[in-house]
Amino acid sequence: MTATRRLLVTSALPYANGSIHIGHMVEHIQTDIWVRFQKMRGHQCIAVCADDTHGTPVMLRAQKLGITPEQMIAEVREEHVRDFRDFFVEYDNYHTTHSDENRELCYRIFNALNDKGHIAKRTISQLFDPEKQMFLPDRFVKGECPRCGSADQYGDSCDSCGATYAPTELKNPKSALSGATPVLKDSEHFFFKLPDFEAFLKKWTRGGHVHDSIANKLDEWFDAGLTEWDISRDAPYFGFEIPNAPGKYFYVWLDAPIGYMASFKNYCDKKGIDFDSFWNTDSDAEVHHFIGKDIVYFHTLFWPAMLEGAGFRKPTKVHAHGFLTVNGTKMSKSKGTFINARTYLDHLNPEYLRYYFAAKLGPGIDDIDLNLEDFVNRVNADLVGKVVNIASRCAGFVHKQFDGKLSPTNTEPTLLGKLQSAAESLAKLYEQREYGKAMRDIMALADQVNEYIADKAPWKLAKAPETAQQAHEVCTVGLNAFRLLALYLKPVLPKLAEQAESFLNIGVLQWSHAETLLLNHPINAFSAMMNRIEPAKIDAMIEASKESLQATNETHNEPGKPASHVEPFKPVITIDDFDKLDLRIARIDNAEHVEGAEKLLKLTLNLGCETRTVFAGIKSAYGPATLIGKHTVMIANLAPRKMKFGLSEGMVLAAGPGGKDLWILEPHQGAEAGMRVK
Ligand code: MSP
Ligand code: ZN
Repeated sequence: MTATRRLLVTSALPYANGSIHIGHMVEHIQTDIWVRFQKMRGHQCIAVCADDTHGTPVMLRAQKLGITPEQMIAEVREEHVRDFRDFFVEYDNYHTTHSDENRELCYRIFNALNDKGHIAKRTISQLFDPEKQMFLPDRFVKGECPRCGSADQYGDSCDSCGATYAPTELKNPKSALSGATPVLKDSEHFFFKLPDFEAFLKKWTRGGHVHDSIANKLDEWFDAGLTEWDISRDAPYFGFEIPNAPGKYFYVWLDAPIGYMASFKNYCDKKGIDFDSFWNTDSDAEVHHFIGKDIVYFHTLFWPAMLEGAGFRKPTKVHAHGFLTVNGTKMSKSKGTFINARTYLDHLNPEYLRYYFAAKLGPGIDDIDLNLEDFVNRVNADLVGKVVNIASRCAGFVHKQFDGKLSPTNTEPTLLGKLQSAAESLAKLYEQREYGKAMRDIMALADQVNEYIADKAPWKLAKAPETAQQAHEVCTVGLNAFRLLALYLKPVLPKLAEQAESFLNIGVLQWSHAETLLLNHPINAFSAMMNRIEPAKIDAMIEASKESLQATNETHNEPGKPASHVEPFKPVITIDDFDKLDLRIARIDNAEHVEGAEKLLKLTLNLGCETRTVFAGIKSAYGPATLIGKHTVMIANLAPRKMKFGLSEGMVLAAGPGGKDLWILEPHQGAEAGMRVK
């Protein structure tokens, strides 16, 4: 056993303007497994999280609901806390960024940065909504792309040609809030001078604090050059006012990571723990952040630089994970695969999902897929068929014939020794977040135990008085194996482990208990621990997810008004015009990210006779891997267009409001590359 460590662990703070969905749960389950593992190892491990409550979207949503932001964030926080609790995700503290602790820490950090000259002030000109009387964040301005002229593009980049620009460059800009034409207005902003920390960051990011894939990404960002970060927003804004700057607020992303410290501070004050001994530069404690790959920039550049500048210790590790897809594609509201945590809980046992995510998770940033058919098969085969089955096969005889007591001798030191000695290698896998490997190793051990039991057939041995003793021994081996498997699975399946503890009549399992065996020990009656997943429950969950979408649509669209996604029609065309379009089925032979392009994927489209390169603005909706091998529809005779990243030889057809909700057309029946679409 290693020396006791002191660990502070966090998950990214969920936004307070929406519900927790199963995508978020990838992160919270990954964190919780790690934390439970560390606690089982006997380390002092404190897990904190909080709701991320500030910013324009929260403010606007509360306005829409006709309540104060304070009311809204309090309600949402309750909901989030319940969701996590019911998934057995246990935070030692779940706070809010709208707290006194956070305000104080923000001031302390900002003032320290300011005193050291890391804060700049200058006037910038931004789009302002004259009706709403507020500055418009980039996402709240829409207009025509300054490069290609596509309509209805966001203020930061064009979905159709991939150009990035300032919102002031949009043609015919409109406020997405009021429809008014924004005007330019000057205002003084505060900037954090990130370039001051370039040398420090280059060293830090290569110091073993992030996975290699992230360090490589960071190199790209260094090459692109670090720029000063705008950390202030003007009133009206829901957040903390900047000291001595009335009407100026900290941008939400400034106070959000400080929210980790604030939640911990709140916990320390309640428990009498020394906050400084975790956050001083000479601290021997560890700080681990679990985050999604979309927020790496904030956690590996801004955050360590802020801490460095303000005289605090830096994170020990930033652990990033990939995104969840369902059945190979982005979670989709219309397909019913955008599943809220609560909808899942209404239909299924949370441990199924905990196990499935664990089986799929590794230390890298690959996306992970919840394939619903595989989910049912895997959970039923592994948890019910392999693990719980061992207990149910062995328990009966011990009670019927041996007074509910395990035999005094271990007749299989080899098999049980093998299970016991797996403790260290499994610990290493958990520590390194190699959960998928750990689950495979545990199931391989379970397979061996099941083979052993099938081979010995205690149900036969139990029948004859001269072999009954052997049946007792076999079941004792089986139940000891079950105890070890439950112990190894406990970070993932805390409820199952608790059931095992009470069935086996033992105390709370710790990692070191793998060194011992249960002999000559009374156990309790066995009762069912986990049922198989019924596929009908999955269908019901998908249906319910579709329904919750309809419910939200009804509340957001006012009757009599066209839905907001319906754009005005373009001028009428004739059939001859239409005939000019050469629409073809294309097979996506390859899809890859484009360096430096936020929205684009580079597609290699096979038309049967030739392949084309097309840059498509669908990155927000699809990971490249999920596209390869699919068929889609493309315009094959569109004049090639030179883009910043290369020549685009056509376009693919897609529909949807944009962002995550965008679907490329997918012909199914008999689609073959090259076929004409009519
Ligand atoms: N509020 C910020 C984080 C501030 S941390 C100082 C935020 N919130 S979020 O609600 O959008 O996301 C919270 C976490 O959930 C992020 O780490 C994000 O990557 C993760 N996920 C959100 N959707 C996800 C999937 N579909 N799949 C996996 N993780 C996902 O970002
Ligand atoms: Zn464009």
